[in-house]
Amino acid sequence: MKRKIKKIGVITSGGDAPGMNAALRAVVRACSYYKVECTGFYRGYQGMIEGDFIDLSARSVKNIIGKGGTILKSARSDEFRTKAGRKKAYKNLKQLNIDALVLIGGDGTFMGGVTFGKEYEIPFVGIPGTIDNDIAGTNFTIGYDTALNTVVESIDKVRDTASSHNRLFFVEVMGRDAGFIALNAGVGAGAEEILLPEEDLGLDRLLESLQKSKQRGKSSSIVVVSEGDKIGKNVFELAEYVTDNLPEYEVRVSVLGHMQRGGSPSCFDRVLASRMGVKAVESVLEGETDIMVGLIKDKIIISNIEEAIKSSHDINRELLRISDILSV
Ligand code: F6P
Repeated sequence: MKRKIKKIGVITSGGDAPGMNAALRAVVRACSYYKVECTGFYRGYQGMIEGDFIDLSARSVKNIIGKGGTILKSARSDEFRTKAGRKKAYKNLKQLNIDALVLIGGDGTFMGGVTFGKEYEIPFVGIPGTIDNDIAGTNFTIGYDTALNTVVESIDKVRDTASSHNRLFFVEVMGRDAGFIALNAGVGAGAEEILLPEEDLGLDRLLESLQKSKQRGKSSSIVVVSEGDKIGKNVFELAEYVTDNLPEYEVRVSVLGHMQRGGSPSCFDRVLASRMGVKAVESVLEGETDIMVGLIKDKIIISNIEEAIKSSHDINRELLRISDILSV
């Protein structure tokens, strides 16, 4: 017989994302609504290992729905990757009478949960929170929409100075293994070229396209580069390569960096986080485990978390074609 869930533990883990606080609020308040206790662990799995926690009530999460970052703080715990680390974490969970876990984070967080769930009997549910949007089982992850808007706004600003000086800018955006931010922000900001981890467009094609842009009378250009782009050169090497081969271009580089992870979450992310947080708690109370919540075609659904990690969430390649047509 399934054990009755009386107390849920929650973490935010991995790279932080705008909307994690909104998700935490939803988890804590849903627990309160269903009369279940809720304990938050600081710095993700590391707090579980160290027994660094806080008991959370509905009032503990007041005024955080619009706050960037995560009040529970986040970390990528190396210790949790070890058997000894996970043993310590489990011991603390038992001591605190935690019956189930809600894990807010990306694929690294989910993998940690799956490994832990195989070693110890503790039900868990994942809430996808990462700006990368690189998780299967959901159309959108929490934080992605906000990050996209931050990036588009930033590229618009870069465009102003690029156009004033007739320059070519390489703008590097986040996404080590996934080009969602680069592709969508690239189209949204009207970039001339978009370089992604998923697609090797090649250096020749880049030069050719930039040459064409000049011939067509463009005085300035923006190339959006995902930090893990397939060409394999970093953004500074790319800029040098273009300067060497197309001396008619005055080239500059802008690396947007961690500002993409900050800021107040968009309304979309707040609503998504609220829906996912409630569903996560309800699912765990219904006896579900090893699942993640997701948004598919505007419906909040649950799916097997291990399958989600193993599958890939593909970019929409049609957007590359759209970008090509529109950068004529
Ligand atoms: O996974 C989110 C992310 O922001 C990636 O886009 C980026 O590659 C990585 O985290 C950066 O990690 P860190 O903050 O540890 O430098």
